[in-house]
Amino acid sequence: MIFPRRNKSTVGLDIGANSLKLVKLDHGKGGYSVSAIGIRELPPEAIVADEIRDREAVIFNIQSLIDQTDPKIKDVVVSISGHGVITDKFTIDKKTGPEAEQAILFETEQRAPFDIDDVSLDYHIIKTDEEVNKMEVLLVAARKEYLQMYLELIEDCGLRPLVVDDDAFAIMNAYENNYEIDPTRVTALVNIGFDVTNITYLSEGLFKATRDVSAGTREIYNAIQREFRLNPELTAKALKGEMSDSIDQDMLKATIISATDELISGIEMAFSYFKSQNKIDNIDWLVLSGGGALLPYLPEFLQSKLSIPLEIANPLRNIDYDPELFQYLQPEKIAPLLSVAIGLAMRKAR
Ligand SMILES: Nc1ncnc2c1ncn2[C@@H]1O[C@H](COP(=O)(O)OP(=O)(O)OP(=O)(O)O)[C@@H](O)[C@H]1O
Ligand SMILES: [Mg+2]
Repeated sequence: MIFPRRNKSTVGLDIGANSLKLVKLDHGKGGYSVSAIGIRELPPEAIVADEIRDREAVIFNIQSLIDQTDPKIKDVVVSISGHGVITDKFTIDKKTGPEAEQAILFETEQRAPFDIDDVSLDYHIIKTDEEVNKMEVLLVAARKEYLQMYLELIEDCGLRPLVVDDDAFAIMNAYENNYEIDPTRVTALVNIGFDVTNITYLSEGLFKATRDVSAGTREIYNAIQREFRLNPELTAKALKGEMSDSIDQDMLKATIISATDELISGIEMAFSYFKSQNKIDNIDWLVLSGGGALLPYLPEFLQSKLSIPLEIANPLRNIDYDPELFQYLQPEKIAPLLSVAIGLAMRKAR
C-alpha cells in the first residue's frame, strides 16, 4: 500500500493588537508553500499594547479564525514581544549540545539584569567564529508570569503552543528566507504594528540587535476617527485605503501625516541609540513591514523624514501559494502584514 507523502507543516499565529494573522506553511523539499491563511480584525480595545483587556473577545476571535481557515489546526507557533521580553547578547567559547546550554545559563546568571528565577530563557546562536573558537549568543528572557498568561490564553482557545518565539526573530526569519542579505549594508527591518514597532538590525549579513518602539498606527486610527467622525468599521476601511471615493484624499493625507510624530521620533531615537551603541555611522537600508507598510502615504512620508532608502517587504517572495487561498485578499498587497506569522510558520515542525 502506498501512503501519500505528507509534507510537514507549521502554523504561525500572530496575535496583534489590531488583527490576528494565521499562516500555515508546508515545509517541502523544494521550499515553503502556503496551505492556509487567515486574517481577522479585533475590536480596537481588546488588546492594547501587550495587555489583553478583553480575554473573551480575543479567544472568540482566535477560535473563529481557526474555524474559518482550517478547523483541524491544533499546534501553533506564537510570539511574544514588548515589556514581557528582554534580549541580551554575549560571546562565549564555542560549545554544542548540553555543554552549550550549561555555559549559556552560567553566563546569563553572571550578567542577568533580572532575577533568573522569574524568567524563562531561550537562546539563538547568531554566529560561530571557528578561527577563535567563539560563538555569539543571543539571549531571550520572558517574564514567567507574562509567558504563563499567554500560554493559558492559547490553551483556552483549544490550541497547543508548540513554540513561543519573539516577533523580532520571526521578522528576521521571514526576511532571511525571502531575500539575499547584502552584507555591505546596515539594514533595519521595521515592522510597524498598531501599538508596537519592532526594529531588527542586520549588519554584515547577521542579526545585530532588536528594539521595540511603543508607537504604531493606533495614533493614526484615532486621528482619522476623530477628523472624519467615522465609526470603527469605516475608520478601519479608511486606513486600508478603501474609502478613496468617499473621503477627501488631501485631508486623509494631512491627517495621517499629522499623527506620525510619535512614531517617527520613536524610530529616530531608536536609530540614534543603535548607531551610538554600535559605532555605526549610517543605517543604509530600511525594510518596512507590518500594517504600517500598507497605510496610504505612510511609507513615502517615512522615507522622506528618515532620508533612508526604503523597500516594502514581501515575505511571500520565495513562497509558493495558490491565490485562491487568500479569498478576497490580494496576496501581493497584504504580504507585509504577514511577516511575523510567516516567520513563525517557518519554524521547523516537530
Ligand atoms: N488588510 C488589512 N487587514 C488588517 N489591517 C490592515 C490591512 N491593511 C492595512 N491594515 C492596517 O494595519 C494596521 C495594523 O498593523 P498590524 O496588523 O501590523 O498590527 P498588529 O500586529 O495587529 O499590532 P501590534 O503588532 O502592535 O500588536 C492597522 O492600522 C490597519 O489599519
Ligand atoms: Mg504585530
